[in-house]
Amino acid sequence: MNNMQTGCTLHGERTNVSALGGLGAQARGASGWLLPEIWMQDGAKRVEQALARLLCGQDDGATELMAAMRYATLHGGKRTRALLCLAAGALADTPAHMLDDVSAAIEMMHACTLVHDDLPAMDDDVLRRGLPTVHVKFGEATAILVGDALQAHAFLTLASLDAPGDNRIALVRELAQAVSAEGAAGGQAMDLSLVGKHVELDRILAMHRMKTGALVRASVRMGALCAIAEDAAHAALYCALDRYSACFGLALQVVDDILDATADTATLGKTPGKDAAAQKPTCVSIMGLQAARQFAPDLLRDAGEAIVPLGPRAERLAQMLQRANAYLFKHVPCA
Ligand code: IPE
Ligand code: IPE
Ligand code: MG
Ligand code: MG
Ligand code: MG
Repeated sequence: MNNMQTGCTLHGERTNVSALGGLGAQARGASGWLLPEIWMQDGAKRVEQALARLLCGQDDGATELMAAMRYATLHGGKRTRALLCLAAGALADTPAHMLDDVSAAIEMMHACTLVHDDLPAMDDDVLRRGLPTVHVKFGEATAILVGDALQAHAFLTLASLDAPGDNRIALVRELAQAVSAEGAAGGQAMDLSLVGKHVELDRILAMHRMKTGALVRASVRMGALCAIAEDAAHAALYCALDRYSACFGLALQVVDDILDATADTATLGKTPGKDAAAQKPTCVSIMGLQAARQFAPDLLRDAGEAIVPLGPRAERLAQMLQRANAYLFKHVPCA
């Protein structure tokens, strides 16, 4: 993409003006920044374009692996993790082309966790993002391989970035840690081990921090790590980002637990009531619905407080909280 096709804004934000349907001028606020909703739409579009470009391989006619990988990544999803990466990248002045690929890698990894989470041996779900789950559509063996390959392609994308080796290693390490036994994989193991048990709330929160929070934390950190090393000079920045993402990630899973208990299929794009049916201890089953409804906005407020010291450059991260609050208000109205 050449400079004629792009508009540059503060903090390295760049948007493909043609992708906004000629809305360039109206889409900006007085400061020249893209208005939040337009920025989010544009970010989601950019990550989807990156996913389509990075997953463009063809199947050989006998297999459907690539088609299934595209099915798992390119059909919906709120793109929360990608947008968090872009928001942190805006704060760090990360170049847009790098952020596109990094956020696509994060969405590949997220999709991997979803495809595996839905498998018969895990949550045994038939619906995801309003469509049949990957194992329902393509078969269980292909779904397992889709997860494997998406994980590999995520790391391949990071390793192939047009960036110094130190940055690429930091990004690969960050994503690997997020889905390791200390992260999502460990949290998912805990989730399965707790079926049918009544456990303390602390245990549930620890599980949520691992199974969901770890990848959310990595998404935020990776946006910054593209451009800013985590060294002593930037300890305060990473501390603020960690507090923000810890609260955001936990809120995301608390809301997911609430919606599983309260929302309908059309809203969820998933089968509702699965957690109770599978005897999963969740924030709702342990805290009660009302307390969980109160907990989520409290967490989002704490996330907002965490980034106050970062000032106006954290504006996109603040807007992600507004988006999460709006989602909460819309779908969890009695909070
Ligand atoms: C669903 O995450 C699984 C959880 C970890 C809670 P999202 O609610 O972000 O799923 P998509 O990407 O929007 O489908
Ligand atoms: C999933 O949690 C967490 C992952 C790491 C994928 P859930 O099992 O509650 O997510 P949904 O409700 O199926 O999206
Ligand atoms: Mg699960
Ligand atoms: Mg599930
Ligand atoms: Mg759930």
